[in-house]
Amino acid sequence: REPYVVSSKGYTAVAINAAAKAGEYIKSRQGTVKELGTKSSAQDLVTEVDKGAEQMIRRLVLTHYPEHAILGEEGVEPGADAVTAALEEAKEHEYLWIVDPVDGTTNFVHGFPFYAVSIALAVRGELTVGVIYDPVRDEMFVAEKGKGAYVHGVKTAVSSEASLGDSLIALGFPPDRQFSQPANLAAFQNILPKVRGIRAGGSAALHLAYVAAGRVSGYYEVGLSPWDCAAGVLLVKESGGQVTDTLGDPYHIGTRHIVASNGHIHDDILSSLKEAGATGF
Ligand code: IPD
Ligand code: CA
Ligand code: CA
Ligand code: CA
Repeated sequence: REPYVVSSKGYTAVAINAAAKAGEYIKSRQGTVKELGTKSSAQDLVTEVDKGAEQMIRRLVLTHYPEHAILGEEGVEPGADAVTAALEEAKEHEYLWIVDPVDGTTNFVHGFPFYAVSIALAVRGELTVGVIYDPVRDEMFVAEKGKGAYVHGVKTAVSSEASLGDSLIALGFPPDRQFSQPANLAAFQNILPKVRGIRAGGSAALHLAYVAAGRVSGYYEVGLSPWDCAAGVLLVKESGGQVTDTLGDPYHIGTRHIVASNGHIHDDILSSLKEAGATGF
C-alpha cells in the first residue's frame, strides 16, 4: 500500500491524519451504538459516534491551527436555515475546515458498510484540500487544488462514458423527505429508463469520491449540506470531472442541489432533471 500522504504540505497531512484517526474510531464502533437520536426528522439519525468523531477531528485540527475555523455537521442545529446561517458566519474566516465526521450515519447504524469521513479546507472561500476516508475498505481519497486527486498514491480520473445509456449513475434520497417528493421521484422516473444502472448507496461523500475515481459516471442529489460535498467536489474537479447545481450553475460552498459527473454526460443529467421539473426546490 502506498502511504496516504501525497504532499508534505501541512494542511493536507493534518486532514489525512484526522480522517484516518476518526475513521478507525468509527469502524471500531460499528455495531456498538448506544445513543441513537434523531435530528430534523425521524429518518435523520445521530449517534454518540458522530459526535465523538467530530470532537476528535476538531481537536486535531485546532492543535495544529488554533486560529482556524471549523464548520462541522454536529456543531450546527439541524435545518436548512440554521445551516445557511452557520455557513454565512463560517465564511468570514480565512481558513475554514468543513467536516462531516460520519457521512452515511444511517448505513453506519444498520451495519451497511458504506460510510466515510469527509474533511475539506477552504482558504479565502476556495476549496484547497479535500479528503474522504472510507474506513471499511481503508481507502483514503485525497485532492489538492491544482495538484490532482489520488487514492493511495494512484491518480484518480473520472470515467469516459459519453452517453447515459452507457452510464452508471448514483443518487440519493435526503432524510428531509420534502426534497424526495414529488420532484425527486419524477427525476428518478425520468432518468432510470435512460441509464445502464442506478445506485443509491447512502453516502454523498463516497458517491462523489466514486465519480472522481471513475467508479460511477455521475451523481446527483438535492438538499445536501456543505459538509456532505465540499471535499468530494474538489475530488471530482481535480479528477477531471464537472460539478454544478441542478440548474447547471457552477458549484460554490453552500450549493445544496448537486450534479457531479465525468463531464461528458453532464448536460444529459441536467436535461433529465429539467424535463422532470426537478431543478429548483
Ligand atoms: C447523509 C448522506 C446521505 C444523503 C443525505 C445526507 P449524513 O449524510 O450523505 O447519503 O442522502 O442527504 O444527509 O447525515 O449521513 O452525514
Ligand atoms: Ca447527519
Ligand atoms: Ca453527510
Ligand atoms: Ca454526518
